[in-house]
Amino acid sequence: MSLPVPQPLPLPQPVLALDGGLTLRAHDAEADLPEFSRVVEESLDHLRPWMPWVAEHSPARVREFLAGRAELWASGAQCSYAIVLDGAIVGSCGLHRFADTPAGTREIGYWLHPAATGRGIATRAARALAEEAFRLPGVERVEIVHDPANTASGAVPARLGFTEDGRRPAEALAPAETGEVQVWYLRAAG
Ligand SMILES: CC(C)(COP(=O)(O)OP(=O)(O)OC[C@H]1O[C@@H](n2cnc3c(N)ncnc32)[C@H](O)[C@@H]1OP(=O)(O)O)[C@@H](O)C(=O)NCCC(=O)NCCS
Repeated sequence: MSLPVPQPLPLPQPVLALDGGLTLRAHDAEADLPEFSRVVEESLDHLRPWMPWVAEHSPARVREFLAGRAELWASGAQCSYAIVLDGAIVGSCGLHRFADTPAGTREIGYWLHPAATGRGIATRAARALAEEAFRLPGVERVEIVHDPANTASGAVPARLGFTEDGRRPAEALAPAETGEVQVWYLRAAG
């Protein structure tokens, strides 16, 4: 009797080099700490309306976030990248498979430092993450989920040709959240 050979978990690449000086790279818990902490601090007011974790923010929480990335990446649950422009961290994004995400689906998340908005960085990051998701065996659908009132976030999937897939109730946890989320999806070509 031969035992089944364990298959490696399909995980995204840790570095995605895009054009125009833009790179997505897996967070490095130690090396990123000072710069990422500063970027988070400077972004808090801009993120607070939509990101529940801002209410719990502290330097220790940022350290814990970074320290947990490698394990969450290895499990495939949350593959989080620093968004790096010309060598400087300007935000964070990720390709996630949460507990309730179907096996063939990945969800994209993103945020930017306020000074990095308005230049297509989130759109280009989300496009690269979707392309990377579809390289993973068995992944057929990518979603972006946002509060309907968060029009800047919703403009990202709209620009990328995602399809609106309706709204569902969701607990409003951050100050501007409405109690609903808008779901967008993209299917693998072919
Ligand atoms: C959501 C968020 C990342 C969107 O940022 P953004 O700057 O609007 O999005 P992009 O980086 O894709 O930039 C798009 C803008 O750049 C412009 N742009 C310039 N070059 C571009 C390019 N090559 N490709 C696409 N857009 C480009 C677009 O026209 C658009 O301009 P507009 O805002 O005047 O319409 C940002 O608002 C944010 O960090 N919000 C707080 C956190 C948050 O809500 N995260 C999402 C939770 S679901």
